[in-house]
Amino acid sequence: MTTFTGFIPVWLNGRLTRNGPGLYTYGDTTYNHLFDGFAVLHQFRIKNGHVTYHSRFLQSDDHKKNRLNNRIVVTQLGTVGHPDPCKTLLQRFMSIFEVEATDNCSVNVVHMGDEVYAMTESPVIRRIDPSTLECIGEKTKVDSIVAVNTLTAHPHVEHDGTVYNMGSSFASSSGPAYNIIKFPPPRVEGGRRKSSVDQAEIVATIPCQWRLHPSYYHSFGMTEKYFIFVEMPLVISLGKLIYNHITKEAFIGAFQWYPEEKTHFRVVDRRTGRQIPTRYSTEAFVTFHQTNAYEKDGQLVVDLTATSDGGIITEAMSERDPSKVNLVLPTHRRFVLPLDVQNAPQDINLVTLPGTKCKATKRANDVIEIEGCEISAHPFELQRINYQYNGREYRYSYGVGISRVNNTHDKLVKMDVVTGQVQIWTETNKFVSEPIFVKPPGSTKEEDKGVVLSSLIDQTDPKLASLLVLDAKTWKELGRVDFRANGTVTPTFHGQFAADADEVHMY
Ligand SMILES: [Fe+2]
Repeated sequence: MTTFTGFIPVWLNGRLTRNGPGLYTYGDTTYNHLFDGFAVLHQFRIKNGHVTYHSRFLQSDDHKKNRLNNRIVVTQLGTVGHPDPCKTLLQRFMSIFEVEATDNCSVNVVHMGDEVYAMTESPVIRRIDPSTLECIGEKTKVDSIVAVNTLTAHPHVEHDGTVYNMGSSFASSSGPAYNIIKFPPPRVEGGRRKSSVDQAEIVATIPCQWRLHPSYYHSFGMTEKYFIFVEMPLVISLGKLIYNHITKEAFIGAFQWYPEEKTHFRVVDRRTGRQIPTRYSTEAFVTFHQTNAYEKDGQLVVDLTATSDGGIITEAMSERDPSKVNLVLPTHRRFVLPLDVQNAPQDINLVTLPGTKCKATKRANDVIEIEGCEISAHPFELQRINYQYNGREYRYSYGVGISRVNNTHDKLVKMDVVTGQVQIWTETNKFVSEPIFVKPPGSTKEEDKGVVLSSLIDQTDPKLASLLVLDAKTWKELGRVDFRANGTVTPTFHGQFAADADEVHMY
C-alpha cells in the first residue's frame, strides 16, 4: 500500500539509498552495541513524481555465518561471537590469532566511480548493485591494497569523481599512523580496466600523538588546499585491543577517554602530503561528523558537531533504549585556525574574522591554543550540507535535532551557521533520519535552492516507511510517500542520493 500527499518535484529523479544497523538478534542471541547491528539497506527510487521503496539485508559473509549457525558467531565492536561449532578445537585455538575485519558494512553507502559500496569503519567494503541492493562479487579488502586497519564511512568526493578517505594503520614500523587514501576515477590501462579501489594509494600520513593509543575518528575535513583531521583523546588502546582479542572480550573495552588531554587539529597540505608545522590544540571533545571547512582571510574555519561527553561510544551507544541514556548532547561548533602564525605575537587572539567569538592564541611553546564557539545550543547531529559548498564558505547545515527529553531523533533542523538560527520540522510520533540536500539540475547560485530528503519511522506503526521531501529554503513539507513494509522498518545512519542525470555522484 502506498499513500501520496503533496507532490514530488518533477526534476527529482534518482535513488536515495540508505544504510543502517537493523538486525541485532540471531536465534536467541542478541548484539549489545548500537554499532553491532547487521546492515539493512533501504532505497527510495524516485522517477517522474513517483516513488517506490524496497529494503534488503546486506548479504555479508558475517551475516551469512550468523544465519547459518542461527546465533551470534561473529564478533562485533561491543559483542563477542561464540565459537563456530563447525570449527575443530585446533581451528578454534588458532582463531585467537586471527583478526579478520568485518564485512558487516552498516554505516553508509558510497559511490566510487561507477561502483557503489556499503561501508562501515572496517577496511572491508561490500560492492552492491544499486538497483537490487544485492552484493556483487566477494568482499573488497581495501587493506590488501593500502596499509590500513580502519577506514571511515565518510569519504570526500571531488567533481571529477576522485574519492579521498582516511584510515589508521596500527602496525607500521614507525608506529601507529593516520593515512589519507586517494581513490582515482576508474580508467583503462593496457586494455585492463582499473576501478577506483584498484588504484588506491596513500597520499598523506599523519603520525599518532599517543604511540600506543591512536585516536578514534569517524570523519575528516577537506578543502581545496587542506585535509583537516581532528585527533581527539577518545583513543583505542592497542594493548587492550590485543588483550581483549586473546581473552575474548568485546573490542569496545579498548576505547579509552582522557578528558584531561587536549584535542589536536592536524592540517595537511594537499600539494605536499605533509602536515603543516603549526600545532593547534583545544579542550577535549568527541566529534563524529565534521560539517565543513573553508579558508577565509588566512584562517581555516572548521565546523563540526561535538560533545564533551567521552562516554558516547562506550556507554551511551551500548544502551539500546535512548530514553535511558544520560549524555551531554552534541551541538554544532566552530573553530578558527590562523594559518600564517610564524611571526605572530604571543598571548593575543589571532582570529580576525568578524562576527565570531572563536579565539586562537599563540603560546610560548608555539602551540596555537584554540577556543571554539557554539554555533547554536540546539542538540544537533548527522548533519549534511549542499556538498557543492564543501571546502567553501557556506551558510546552511541540515541535521537531526535530538530531544532533550528522551534523546530521540525527532526533528529535522536547518541551521544558519552564521546566525545560529534554526528552522525545525517535527511531527508527533515520527523519528527522522539524516536529511540529504539535493539541488535541482544546473542550479548553483542559491545555496539552499533545492529539496531535503529524509526517511521517517513511525513510533506507533513499525511497518510504516515514509519518504519526506522538504523545501530546503522554506523548510516546509512539499510531499510525502508512505509505504507499508512487510516487516519492521529499521533506522539508518547515512545514505546518498544519486541523481539519474549525474555521472559523478558527489557526497
Ligand atoms: Fe557518521
